[in-house]
Order: sequence, then structure tokens, then C-alpha cells
Amino acid sequence: MTAVLLSLYACLALALSNAAPDHSHPKGEDPPDAKPDRCKGIEFDAITPDEKGNTFFFKGDHLWKGFSGPAELSNSIFKELDDYHHLGHVDAAFRMHHQDDLNVHDHIYFFLDDKIFSYYNYTLEQGYPVEIQQEFPGVPSHLDAAVECPKGECITDSVLFFKGNEIYSFDIKTKSVKKKVWAHLPNCTSAFRWLEHYYCFHGYNFTRFHPVSGDVTGTYPKDARNYFMRCGEGFGHGGGARKQRCSEVKLNAITIDDKGRSYAFQDAMYMRLDTHRDGSHHFPISRLWKEISVVVDAVFNYGDNMYIIQGDQVYIYKSAAHYTLIEGYPKPLKEELGIDGPVDAAFLCPNQHIVNVIQGQKMYDIDLAATPRAVKMERPIPFPEIDAGFCDADGVKVFIGPEYYSYQSPMILAMGKIKPAPQTISREKFGCEE
Ligand SMILES: *[C@@H]1O[C@H](CO)[C@@H](O)[C@H](O)[C@H]1NC(C)=O
Ligand SMILES: *[C@@H]1O[C@H](CO)[C@@H](O)[C@H](O)[C@H]1NC(C)=O
Ligand SMILES: *[C@@H]1O[C@H](CO)[C@@H](O)[C@H](O)[C@H]1NC(C)=O
Repeated sequence: MTAVLLSLYACLALALSNAAPDHSHPKGEDPPDAKPDRCKGIEFDAITPDEKGNTFFFKGDHLWKGFSGPAELSNSIFKELDDYHHLGHVDAAFRMHHQDDLNVHDHIYFFLDDKIFSYYNYTLEQGYPVEIQQEFPGVPSHLDAAVECPKGECITDSVLFFKGNEIYSFDIKTKSVKKKVWAHLPNCTSAFRWLEHYYCFHGYNFTRFHPVSGDVTGTYPKDARNYFMRCGEGFGHGGGARKQRCSEVKLNAITIDDKGRSYAFQDAMYMRLDTHRDGSHHFPISRLWKEISVVVDAVFNYGDNMYIIQGDQVYIYKSAAHYTLIEGYPKPLKEELGIDGPVDAAFLCPNQHIVNVIQGQKMYDIDLAATPRAVKMERPIPFPEIDAGFCDADGVKVFIGPEYYSYQSPMILAMGKIKPAPQTISREKFGCEE
């Protein structure tokens, strides 16, 4: 099965609130081989995604692949774990994120007692298992949980290790460790990163936390069975919400930042687009951009700043481990860019200083390197109104409802003599339902 299908399945499982219960055996009775049932409330030993975006949940010598389906023996997939039977269960696991080193990037690391097993393509890497401290000096054995934290979400590519109430934040490049105690966070028995969100699992509950500060915002703990697995009657969230149909998608804004992260905004929600192998999900905009409470009009990135335009105001966020509103903002759009709001869309092509702002049938070029900033050029575009647009190395894409049009450059969009054939927003990229 393809990664796309699996991740779609995963996200369907999350989105469905009234999924069919499992009728494979009578209620309340364990099957003969006594497979653990995650809907009965399990404290997982470890949770990790693999390089294809499948999520594995571990308990004892069993695992679950994905957000639905029965348990199977861990050694049916990760065979070598069985050769070390005396080691018992998996203590912790994570998917390495370190693009500077493709020999380790996307490998799954399992921690059993004092050993590490590194897997890729479900095959144990040569030379493993090794002692934990050989690869992660300063990190203790007999861990409770581990989770990767890429640069951009943490300050540097890191791994967070959990043991009791202590957290070891390990910098992958420098191999330095910082010990932290987040007293308000329960002791995690497993930890999981999903679409930039960090979850500490404890008992059958979980608590979402910030990977740098450890802060918990929102109402936690929550029961994992309502979110991370499909448990039928009585479980689920979202009040019967169904995934949006692709034909009903109407974006407000879309952007791609200097780190390749791409975000689509619709109503009060955002969705990360470039991580679709792990599934897709809408989250409230205010979760990443605290000060933004309502629908946005246009978003673009310039260097490591993100400009969010709402009515006649512009918010500028610095992107580091999280988005922080720059002091003095929001400011009137007129003052910042020399143009009156509202606008329909805005985009900046890679390595450019000119932002293209679209308002009705006009595209304005504004030089961000000039002071004061002002409209340098005004050109008509061949659309009465567009919803959103972005520009990357492949050129410009402008979105109108569930369709988009691709152009090689803003100039070709403006010349627009021949309209390219529209493409449709697809389930693969936008996580909608066809
Ligand atoms: C993954 O492993 C299978 C066999 O286990 C092999 O046939 C396949 O070529 C491997 N794929 C990669 C990308 O290494
Ligand atoms: C959390 O771990 C610490 C050891 O680091 C232990 O003393 C404490 O009892 C644990 N708390 C719970 C609720 O298990
Ligand atoms: C799970 O969280 C609920 C509160 O949401 C709490 O009442 C319950 O005791 C917790 N259970 C476990 C096993 O942690």
C-alpha cells in the first residue's frame, strides 16, 4: 500500500467520530491468543511514526500499525527485536529527523533497556544494536519515552528523552544534553510527534506540550481513544465532523516558508501541507499564531518572517522554534506596505524582494528592500478574484475555490494571454475527501 493511502487512512480514522466497532470477536471476550485491545485503555510503551508515515504503537511484545486495526506481534515486522528476547518490551522509540545526515535521517530508533536498534525499511541497520550512550552520550538507559524535535520546532534538530519526571533534550549535531524538569507534565510512558504537535502519553490519556518550554495549553489530559485510535460507539471527537470534500475547499491564504514548511489557511483553521505522509488535520490558526483569531486574507514569507494580512492590518511573525509576533505589530497595511487593505492574496518568489499583492483584478509589486515601501508597478491579472496564491521554485500557483492555476512567474501570470488548464485540489496534497 502506498504511503499516501496509509496516511489518508490514518487521518480518516482521526476524523471519523462514529466509526464501526470491531465485530471480530464477541464484546468483552478476549480472542484465544489474548491480543491486547487498545480500546480497553492501554498504557503504551512507545509510539513512533516510520519513514512512510505509518504510526506504530507498542505494548509488551505487541504492536499496532496505524490508528485502526488489531494488535500483532512486534517481531512480525521488526524481526530482530525477537533475537534479544530477554530485553523484553520496547521502552521508547522515535523517528530520527536529521536531514544533514541521510545515513540516519528517517530511521526509526528503538530503545530496549540499555540498547538502541536502528531500523530503516523494516530492516535492522548493520552494527546494531549498540549501547545507548555510544550514540547518545549523557542519556540514561531504561528510558520511558523519546520523541524527535526538528529544527524549527526545537532550536536545533533534537531528541527529547523522558525518564521519570526528567527530560533530556539532546542536540543531535553537537551531542550536548540539557536536563529539564517539567513538573506540571505527567511522567510520559510514550511520546509522539504528529504534524508539529507533541503528545505525552500517560495511562490511556495524553497531554499536548510545547517541546521547548514544556508548556501545556488547553484542557488536558484527554483520552487517547477519542483521538489516536478508532474505538467505535462512545469514542471519537469532533461531533460527527466529516472531512471536507475537495470540491468544497476554498482557501483564504497559502504560503511556503524558507524552511520549506507550507501552510494553507481556511476559515479559522490551518493545515500543514508538506507533511502529508503523516496524515493531515486542520488545527486552529491561533495555536501557532496566538494573536490571529479570525479569518486571514493573505499570508507570505520574506526571509524568516511571516506576514499575515487581515483587513487593513498586517501582523509580522518571526519564525524560530515558534512564531512570535514582532513588537509593534499589528500595524496598518498602508504604513507597512503602502497599500490599502483588504487584499486577496500575496506571494513572494524565492530569493526575491518583490512581494506581489493581489487585490481584485490587479497585481501590485512592492519592493520590500526599499524604504518607504510603496507600489512600484501595477498590472492586471486575468481573474476577477482569486482566493490565495504562493510562489516557489516551480513558479506561481493561484487558487480559486477548489481549483488552481500554475504559472512560471508572476510576469507570465500578469501577461496571462493564455489561461492554463485549471488543476484541482487533491486529496493527496490537501487531505480532503474526493
Ligand atoms: C526494502 O526491503 C525490501 C525487502 O525487505 C526490499 O525488497 C526493498 O528493495 C527495500 N527497499 C529499499 C528502498 O531499500
Ligand atoms: C514520576 O517520576 C518520578 C521519578 O522521576 C517519581 O518519583 C514519581 O513518583 C513519578 N510520578 C508518578 C505520578 O508516577
Ligand atoms: C485520564 O484523564 C481523566 C481526566 O480527563 C482522569 O479523570 C483519569 O483519571 C485519567 N486516567 C488515567 C489512567 O490517567
